[in-house]
Amino acid sequence: MCGIVGYIGSKEAYPILIKGLQRLEYRGYDSAGVAMLHEGSFNLFKCKGKVANLESLVAQHNSVGDMGIGHTRWATHGAPNDVNAHPHASGDGNLVLIHNGIIENYSTLKEALQTQGHQFLSDTDTEVLVHFIEDVHAKTGLSLFEAVRLALAEVVGAYAIVLIDKRNPNQLICAKKSSPLVIGVGDHGEFFIASDATPIVEYTKNVVYLNDEEVALLDRNEGLKIVTIQNQIKVPYIQALEMKLEAIEKGGYDSFMLKEIHEQPRSIHDSIRGRLNLSLGAVRMSGIDEHSEKWTQATRILIVACGTSWHAGLVAEYLFEEFARIPVEVEYASEFRYRDPIILPTDVVIAISQSGETADTLAAIELAKERGAFIFGVCNVVGSTISRATHSGAYTHAGPEIGVASTKAFTAQVSVLYLMALAVAEKRGTIAQDRLHRLMAELNSVPDKIEEVLQTNDQVKMIAEIYKDSSNALYLGRGYSFPVALEGALKLKEISYIHAEGYPAAEMKHGPIALIDEEMPVIVIATQGSSYEKVVSNIQEVKARKGKIIAIVNIGDKTVRELADYTIEIPKTDDSLVPIVSVVPLQLLSYHIAVMRGCNVDQPRNLAKSVTVE
Ligand code: F6R
Repeated sequence: MCGIVGYIGSKEAYPILIKGLQRLEYRGYDSAGVAMLHEGSFNLFKCKGKVANLESLVAQHNSVGDMGIGHTRWATHGAPNDVNAHPHASGDGNLVLIHNGIIENYSTLKEALQTQGHQFLSDTDTEVLVHFIEDVHAKTGLSLFEAVRLALAEVVGAYAIVLIDKRNPNQLICAKKSSPLVIGVGDHGEFFIASDATPIVEYTKNVVYLNDEEVALLDRNEGLKIVTIQNQIKVPYIQALEMKLEAIEKGGYDSFMLKEIHEQPRSIHDSIRGRLNLSLGAVRMSGIDEHSEKWTQATRILIVACGTSWHAGLVAEYLFEEFARIPVEVEYASEFRYRDPIILPTDVVIAISQSGETADTLAAIELAKERGAFIFGVCNVVGSTISRATHSGAYTHAGPEIGVASTKAFTAQVSVLYLMALAVAEKRGTIAQDRLHRLMAELNSVPDKIEEVLQTNDQVKMIAEIYKDSSNALYLGRGYSFPVALEGALKLKEISYIHAEGYPAAEMKHGPIALIDEEMPVIVIATQGSSYEKVVSNIQEVKARKGKIIAIVNIGDKTVRELADYTIEIPKTDDSLVPIVSVVPLQLLSYHIAVMRGCNVDQPRNLAKSVTVE
């Protein structure tokens, strides 16, 4: 949440900052702002709304400066307006600061500063922080770098910050705790700073991921210096960035979401490649092989995640229980972290997160770690905080997901969790070899099946046209398709703002059936498999109440076609793989409905891609 960028070097900062903000806009779009330092004064602009508004504002003014900072905001403290937009300045106007995170003790700090005469213009915790740094700097007489370190030692909460002092055109200061920050190292004293690597990749492949409680000084002449809040000197660890520029551009699609839906055959292929060894008849995952005992001795698996990743976790529950015969509990990370969960040393905790930055998931990991569990991460963003906080893990190789609504990350997560369940089952001897080989071959064919599903796009669009004005929708599925029903409903509500609910199909008669009338579209995942007949009965129940049925069925299905108003045909696969294939038409349906309703599918209202606050 909130995107931050910074630049110091010999180029004009503004074009680099604005492009960076466009790339980071998925992290929040309540307001945007930039400040460039030029000849001892700031060219500072900020305004409510999207980065495009900021661009129009800056176009009428002077934006020169060879160093600067930029911010795109997801509001936490204070309304999304011009005044609360970042950057925020110190009382004397010498410092400007951008911030991603929450300063939890800001009101105590604010009161103390107010009694000393500080006046605040905004309602933000960030303005308090820059005043506090100013105060520590003035009182101690130390360098600004030192003062930032001392000030942050007093701060409770989460932050990634970048700070400039107008009296010092040679230095940028940044720091991080629980919010992400990457430093790009260019040539000849040039540095880039960003919340993720996307604004940096076209300028340099050399990056340093700042760790929690580290403060960095970026000096044109002296280079990069990092110390911890406790004043320990750290040697910067420069890593090579593997991201490609094309991966973060729209590539001819109208939106990132549509591009990402269409990328799924490739992203699933990339996620299983090298791990699914068909000729050996084995699944090889280093994170599992290297900790074989943890998995074979596990008495329980706990899965922690949020949102779509939690839905992937629900699929994993079925997979691990069916194949590896280990009891599984799936927890919302936000709930798990605040109760007093029983965690045993023989538990394996799987944390699932696309961004690898979700604050609740991270807190759940820390709690489970404290209590001695082995933690395994399933993350998409390489080098992200969660991927570094876990004992081991497996990356989903979905590539950057920029659309705020998660699509390709979900199918990549389920694919990786599928491989994990097979690998563990193989080690525990709970799966017959012929079944294992059949499932491996079936998983290998999933990318081609998704290519086929993508061919239904025009038909899905036609169905979207019919139901685009609905105010409610119900999604039903049983067994492996229940999490898909939840995911389909989440996709519809988050991007089209239509109220939707996902339900286990049989649960419908315990309440939601009361909602069904001739206005209500009911989307049912009715593929042929173990619960097919039961789902057909549930469809009959909906039909008897005049509900409108849109069913996801297998190619050639006749029974459901006779009952449903519309069917979307997908290729047959094993029950356990249905979630990966059947979610795709639901993603397309939400996408088309949202576009027809004039919604911004990549940046739905009130949402942000990376939820770094609890
Ligand atoms: C929904 C969506 C969110 C995320 C959730 C967790 O489309 O994107 O529900 O799934 O915020 O995010 P990660 O996976 O980054 O931890």
